[in-house]
Amino acid sequence: MKKIVLLGPPGCGKGTQSKLLVEKDNFVQLSTGDLLRSEISNSNSDLGKKVKDLMESGELVPDDIVIDIIVKKVEKHKKENIVFDGFPRNLKQAKVLDSSLENVSIKLDHAIFFEIDFQILQERINTRANETKDSEKRKDDNSKTLLNRIEVFKSSTLPIVGYYEEKGIISKINGMQMVNEVYAEITKIIC
Ligand code: AP5
Repeated sequence: MKKIVLLGPPGCGKGTQSKLLVEKDNFVQLSTGDLLRSEISNSNSDLGKKVKDLMESGELVPDDIVIDIIVKKVEKHKKENIVFDGFPRNLKQAKVLDSSLENVSIKLDHAIFFEIDFQILQERINTRANETKDSEKRKDDNSKTLLNRIEVFKSSTLPIVGYYEEKGIISKINGMQMVNEVYAEITKIIC
């Protein structure tokens, strides 16, 4: 069973490709963004209240919150193919992921990094915002917050690439291709 991480800036296509891996290749998608958004949509969730403002401003939520969520999910899905979408987001999370996998005697097979011009991200996020009903629009899908999300990506998440390079499990792919072409590159790496 494969365990893979999709790494890349906001809007690069991590969620889109994760969904294809779920539909076509029997993967479980663990998206910390989706899990946190579902807490926010539950008006009784204290966790949702705690993370709402941070997510809406494009900042990362505290490590202990996402780590707690992910560690439980790893335990639950350890015998399945897992695609980690949006986790890890910094070196601390990357190290915790390694140790929580080790605890159940498994390891990460691949970290796949989407290379993409930041300019394209703006277009993609604008398109997504324009095509989504107002009631379902993501509060962080606007130009100002996107710029902050990109800065947070550069300062916190990008250093993980070097960490996975040292471990010899990084693959870089061209995230500017058509969706099916990106998917083909990913499947070539993981098969
Ligand atoms: P998260 O939900 O993870 O969002 P993100 O990383 O900003 O990424 P997106 O979901 O916007 O983009 P994506 O790369 O998945 O692209 P997608 O496939 O959707 O995180 C949100 C927030 O939650 C964070 O800011 C933080 O606050 C918090 N958070 C989450 N995880 C955390 C963690 N581990 N630690 C701390 N905080 C955390 O595609 C985007 C658009 O482009 C779509 O419209 C799609 O149709 C289109 N598209 C995709 N691929 C292509 C293509 N090849 N060609 C043309 N269009 C394409």
